[in-house]
Amino acid sequence: MGLSQENAPIYEALMEFEKKRIVPFDVPGHKRGRGNPELVHLLGEKCVKLDVNSMKPLDNLCHPISVIRDAEQLTAEAFGAAHAFLMVGGTTSAVQAMVLSTVKRGDKIILPRNVHRSVMGALVLCGAIPVYVDPACDDRLGIPLGMRVSDVERAIKANPDAKAVLVNNPTYYGICSDIRSIVKIAHDNGMLCLADEAHGTHLYFGENLPVSAMAAGADIAAVSMHKSGGSLTQSSILLIGPNVSEGYVRQIINLTQTTSGSYLLMASLDISRRNLALRGKESFAEVVRLAEYARKEINDIPGYYAYSKELINNDSVFDFDTTKLAVNTLEIGLAGIEVYDILRDEYDIQVEFGDLGNMLAYISIGDRPREIERLVSALAEIKRRFGKPDTGELMSQEYIDPEVAVSPQEAFYAEKEALPIAETAGRICSEFVMCYPPGIPILAPGERITKQIIDYIEYAKEKGCSMTGPEDAEINMLNVLIDKR
Ligand SMILES: Cc1ncc(COP(=O)(O)O)c(C=O)c1O
Repeated sequence: MGLSQENAPIYEALMEFEKKRIVPFDVPGHKRGRGNPELVHLLGEKCVKLDVNSMKPLDNLCHPISVIRDAEQLTAEAFGAAHAFLMVGGTTSAVQAMVLSTVKRGDKIILPRNVHRSVMGALVLCGAIPVYVDPACDDRLGIPLGMRVSDVERAIKANPDAKAVLVNNPTYYGICSDIRSIVKIAHDNGMLCLADEAHGTHLYFGENLPVSAMAAGADIAAVSMHKSGGSLTQSSILLIGPNVSEGYVRQIINLTQTTSGSYLLMASLDISRRNLALRGKESFAEVVRLAEYARKEINDIPGYYAYSKELINNDSVFDFDTTKLAVNTLEIGLAGIEVYDILRDEYDIQVEFGDLGNMLAYISIGDRPREIERLVSALAEIKRRFGKPDTGELMSQEYIDPEVAVSPQEAFYAEKEALPIAETAGRICSEFVMCYPPGIPILAPGERITKQIIDYIEYAKEKGCSMTGPEDAEINMLNVLIDKR
């Protein structure tokens, strides 16, 4: 192809296109912004002029043969994959394509319960059956950890007909399972290994970070370029290894992907891949340095606990991603979500999320030391102004072992009735309930509702967690399967 990582084929083609001043009698109908001046005001001339549709010199995302294909090949090379697909529907679309390429109705897939809603959504779409491995839970922090290799082995032995094992690499909190060993036992048993790497783009470029899925030999990985990779929101990539059919995965992607892929998103993926390939090593060394500095400063404020590699136990925490700055807040007498809200309302600081016991500040290639200082001093002040004695009354997250009574697809489409949440104990849920972010379902379709789950939902609502999923946006009612007994 004669191209190197210095090239950005989609970006270069767009620049050529811009020079040509082609008269548009095609979509989008705003015609380079002329038909929508407010849009030009909002986004700028440059941006709307490049918001174009597929055409011969710019290739076509559904069936790439020129510049998009070249960009995908360069991406594959940069990430050590056999092929890469540019995705414009977020990592949700990458995760769904990954699962839909691997399992179909009635097939089993082994996975931890702390997966993102996109994984469960894919199970609703394809009708596969989840076999959950309990991700151990850190009792003090209340965070789900990784899958133990011994637990994965047990699940594989009990379900030799399963088609794949899915791993979070890493979790939102930075926890990594032993993905190399999981790949090996999956392959030894004729199964594929899939990785949700929404939070792992940097693992492909930084040094002294946990192993990436492709380097560990995984078969497919969904990678959020728009998170740590620096591309535009909603752009993502899907990577495959040598044992997966590129053509089949492309067919699966095209079942749900738009036929009008955004060139703003695709060009941002192309440029970001070039940046990462050329400068990723230094950029992520700086991200790690900033995160380590922030962690040390925050840990000097009594009551906060910004955790790191000391969690590693070679089992449920095989490795830790030190770019993640998660802070446990319970000892200052505040839930993580309360600190999250105070940071925004009182200090104009927006962090990534707060759950019951923790908050997560996202540190990336766009951060500077001065923002880190602001965060650290705001946290110190929050403790002084809002901290309470730790009475041990705050609830932390606990792992609730789900009882999967019916497959997610069957439950989602079943005959159902809406009941007040308090009256649903013992019934089978037909919808999702989750705090977003992080978007890990508290309940998924097909799971039996328990009193413990209801208490947890009520408590999270009371603390101000942003809850989503159910048909009833107020989350007062839950859809449950009609009890036919
Ligand atoms: C683990 C995980 N997987 C997948 C996704 C989906 O990514 P997106 O929001 O780009 O669709 C997220 C989003 O936060 C996530 O946390």
